[in-house]
Amino acid sequence: MRLDKYLADMNLGTRKEVKTLIKNRLVKINDEIITKADYNVQDKDIVKVNDEIINYVEYEYILLHKPSGYVCANEDRLYPTVFELIESKRKDLFTVGRLDVDTEGLLLITNDGILAHRLIAPKFHIAKKYYVRLENDLIPEAKEILEKPMDLGDFITKGSTFEKISSKEAYLTIEEGKFHQVKRMFEKIDNKVIYLKRVSFGFLELDDLALSNWRYLSEEEINELKKMVGI
Ligand code: URA
Repeated sequence: MRLDKYLADMNLGTRKEVKTLIKNRLVKINDEIITKADYNVQDKDIVKVNDEIINYVEYEYILLHKPSGYVCANEDRLYPTVFELIESKRKDLFTVGRLDVDTEGLLLITNDGILAHRLIAPKFHIAKKYYVRLENDLIPEAKEILEKPMDLGDFITKGSTFEKISSKEAYLTIEEGKFHQVKRMFEKIDNKVIYLKRVSFGFLELDDLALSNWRYLSEEEINELKKMVGI
């Protein structure tokens, strides 16, 4: 890989900015100053900028406990984005599906397009569990109605798992993730979601990760996710 791409991929600046770093003799490979932006970096090479080692990371897998008030988008005119909450080496990250701006909970962020695409594909049936707080009391038929396929106008749900916690609280587990799906399902039974939090995504849970905090997925978790979607 070209040296300027290597450094730009690792977020050291734009292609133009990293070329300036190289020209200014701040980049070393195996402790030798390199002034050519098109130097072909090999796996065994040790790349340093300002004498700090820069390892190349091809893929990143991040689990964020998303707070309310942040959008799942690369840019937004009204709200800060979830990417402002994480520190990452890669700048080509995206979210695996989306949570609404006012939804909290477990959000995966990666630059692994194949894995992300499969994790949100309905055919792999990845369960997403939400904690829901409602404006009104649940009707007695809630479980029966929500668990069967529901016609939401633009699509029919595949069915879900409903667990009542109290008169105004429940868990709902769905395998799809259509726009505002959970909110729309409760609207259909004349209720309103006033607080929504995704508590799990497949086998991944928030555990004790505090609101707004994030962590990298472990190798085992990445492999397990890949296994679930046949990679
Ligand atoms: N369903 C919703 O309505 N909103 C979300 O953010 C996620 C699922």
